[in-house]
Amino acid sequence: MAKSIILNALDIGTSSIKMMVAQKDLGTGDVAILAQTQVPCLGVRKGEVSNPQEVTQAIIVAKEQLKKSGATKVKGVLVNIGGSRLYAVSSQGLVSVSRADQKISEEDIQRVLQASRALNLPSNKEVLDVFPKEFLVDGEGGIADPLGLAGIRLETKVLLICAFSPVLENLGEAVSGAGLEVEGIIPSSLASARACLTLQQKELGAGMVDIGAGDTGVSFFEEGKLIDFVVFPWGSSHITNDIALGLRTEIATAERIKREFGTLTSQKGKKRVTKIEIPEKSLSFSPKFLKNIIETRISEIFSEIQKELKKISKQNLLPGGIVLTGGGAELPGMVEFAKQRLKLPCRLGRVRDIPGIEDLALSTCAGLLLTGFDSEVESPPGGKVGGRLRRIFKMFLP
Ligand SMILES: Nc1ncnc2c1ncn2[C@@H]1O[C@H](COP(=O)(O)OP(=O)(O)OP(=O)(O)O)[C@@H](O)[C@H]1O
Ligand SMILES: [Mg+2]
Repeated sequence: MAKSIILNALDIGTSSIKMMVAQKDLGTGDVAILAQTQVPCLGVRKGEVSNPQEVTQAIIVAKEQLKKSGATKVKGVLVNIGGSRLYAVSSQGLVSVSRADQKISEEDIQRVLQASRALNLPSNKEVLDVFPKEFLVDGEGGIADPLGLAGIRLETKVLLICAFSPVLENLGEAVSGAGLEVEGIIPSSLASARACLTLQQKELGAGMVDIGAGDTGVSFFEEGKLIDFVVFPWGSSHITNDIALGLRTEIATAERIKREFGTLTSQKGKKRVTKIEIPEKSLSFSPKFLKNIIETRISEIFSEIQKELKKISKQNLLPGGIVLTGGGAELPGMVEFAKQRLKLPCRLGRVRDIPGIEDLALSTCAGLLLTGFDSEVESPPGGKVGGRLRRIFKMFLP
């Protein structure tokens, strides 16, 4: 039996593509990054692949860079999906237990999960993944794992994540155009949640907020299960755009200003800076002016998150708190701002389980790998990581 597994992850983001190759030692459980790269990317809008050819070009560059850094040939990849057209919907399934002795088998569980996917969706929408909330055996609910229980009727209540088919098609086209094979597709904020949330937080009730460049993915967990999922079509690049408009400057300068001077923290004390000057661009503005621009956009995102919390009746009710990640969360003062707006414990989410990853923008990519390793360890020796969608959801089984 193999002593280690190697997997490849591809995070197609609005601002950049990240690729990582990692190895998991099956003896110690340790995961080590063998190679990684990040290349700028056009062709993605608000988290969705809008121009597959351009994305393919960026993936090819990333692949070449991995090759140069000594990675073995990359073929199969675990890939993310983003964009606000991903959505969650509740559903349920019901089947009769098939074995003569009425003991629930793995096959019954798979059948009832399959039944829960049979939803009347518009022809351009499809179910991407299924996340069980609970199972019911002969009407008795609250069962986390029905395997081996005796019963006649097996039901499940689930959360389905659905995607807009053309976005999925574009994603597939971009990846296959670069000569890669999709081994699994995982929504970005779920991958980030795997990387940054602890099992205890998911058990207590917690939220993952992944602030990317073009979108913000949010997923909520309770009792270890996914209870809600939503993506908002705004991210940190919208702050950059607002700065460019507010200061009448080009995007590259606005991005530099955001990273160098952007903050959500108010200045206090004698050393207050009253003016920021960028002489080579003939720009001069007050820190307060910049902070107002940033705050307006971030407020918009947090008020949507607050509305979502209200929708699922979890305002002030997630003891595991809100964990912020994605490059957009690097903005100074983000945690304090989130605490104040969401009235919940908040912290930055850095990658756990893989040492040495500090950059918040790498959480999704690391989470793709960790989700893949979880799924691989569960599957039979020598088995591949799921077909396009197979088995990935299993890590979320209670
Ligand atoms: N230090 C920083 N301060 C402020 N913003 C930052 C900082 N570092 C990165 N960002 C912002 O984070 C964004 C990139 O984050 P990330 O790589 O997570 O996004 P992405 O994956 O490309 O986009 P998406 O997930 O929305 O498709 C950019 O908009 C960038 O300006
Ligand atoms: Mg991202």
